[in-house]
Amino acid sequence: MSPNDFIYKSTDLLPDLGSYTSEAPSNIALVKYWGKYGEQLPKNTSISYTLENCKTQTEVVLKALVKPTDHYHFDVFLDGESKPTFKPKIETFLKRIEVYTPFLKSFQFEIHTKNTFPHSSGIASSASGMAALAKCFIAMEASINPELTQTFQIHKASFLARLGSGSACRSTGGKLVVWGKHKDIEGSSHFYGIDYPDEVHNNFRNFRDSILLIDEGQKQVSSSVGHNLMHDHPFAEQRFQQADANITKLKSILTSGNFEEFFALVESEALSLHAMMMTSSPYFILMRPNTLEVINKIWEFRTSKKVPVGFTLDAGANVHILYPEASEVKVRTFIDEHLLQYCQGKKVIHDQIKF
Ligand code: PMV
Repeated sequence: MSPNDFIYKSTDLLPDLGSYTSEAPSNIALVKYWGKYGEQLPKNTSISYTLENCKTQTEVVLKALVKPTDHYHFDVFLDGESKPTFKPKIETFLKRIEVYTPFLKSFQFEIHTKNTFPHSSGIASSASGMAALAKCFIAMEASINPELTQTFQIHKASFLARLGSGSACRSTGGKLVVWGKHKDIEGSSHFYGIDYPDEVHNNFRNFRDSILLIDEGQKQVSSSVGHNLMHDHPFAEQRFQQADANITKLKSILTSGNFEEFFALVESEALSLHAMMMTSSPYFILMRPNTLEVINKIWEFRTSKKVPVGFTLDAGANVHILYPEASEVKVRTFIDEHLLQYCQGKKVIHDQIKF
C-alpha cells in the first residue's frame, strides 16, 4: 500500500458528538532507526519488540463545530491536567495527516491521555502516545465506514503514527515489528510497520525487558534534532548500511535461537546509535556515568555466570536489560543486588514481550 491508498475518501459524516478510545504500547528497537528523509521516511530498516506493560491510553472526545474553520481546535490533557506544551507537536502531526483525516477540522476536540509508566521516567512516551492517538483516528474512520478491512486499519494506523513520530509506527500492532523496506523482509515498507513475518525461535519469545531508570530528567537533545544531525554526518551512509546488514543477520539469529549472537548484535546496535550522537556536529552524549557502570556490570555478570542477558539503549541514559523468561530469577536477583544502586531513586520498570 502507498500513501494514496490512505487518503480519506468517504463523504459520510461522523456524529456531532463522540468519544473514541485506544491504547498503544511502548517499543524497544533491536536494530535502531536514526536518520530520516522526506515525510518521516527512515534511512534504514529498524525492528523492535513491543512491550506489554508500558502503554499510553488515550480518549479523543469530539464535538462538532457549528462552522468548520481552517484551524484545528483541540486541547490536550495528561492525567486530567491541561498540557498546552504538548500542543505544538500534535498540531504538526495533525497538519501532516490532514488529507488522511480531513474530518478532524469539523470538530472541536479534547485529547485525554495517560501513561502506565511515569511521564518523567525518560521512557519515550512519544511512540506509544502518537500510536494511541493514531488508533483513535482510525477508530473514528472505521465507525462510519464498516467496510474498512482489518489489514487496512492496521496499516493506516501505523502509517499515521509514523507521521507523528517515526518509531510510533512500530507501536500500533504486532509483537516484533519491522519498519522500512528491506530486501529480506517480505511486505516491509517505508510507510508503515509490519509484524515480522518470518520464523522466530522460542528463545526469543516470552522475553523480559527490565528498564533501569538511570536519569529521569528531560533529554538535552530531542530525537528530531538527532535525526537531522544525520544529514551531514560523516558516518551516516556506513551506519545505514550497517543497520540494513544487521536486519539480515538478525533474521538468521531469530531463526537459530543463538543468544550470544543476538546480544552481540543488539548491543552493537545500541552503541552504534550512541556513537552517531557522539560523532555528529554538534556532538552530544546521552549516556551518563551510571549507564556505563551498568553496562560493565552486565558484561561481568554474563561472562562469569553464563546467563543469557544483554542490554540495549534508547535515545537516553536508561538501560534496557533484555533476557529470556528462563533467566528471570537470576537476572532479577542480579539487578536487585548489584544494579539498583545506579538507578535514580532505585527505580526499575520490569516489562515483558510475549508472543
Ligand atoms: O521516533 P523518534 O523520532 O523519536 O526516534 C526514536 C529513535 C530511537 O528510539 C532512538 C531508535 C528506535 O528505533 O526506536
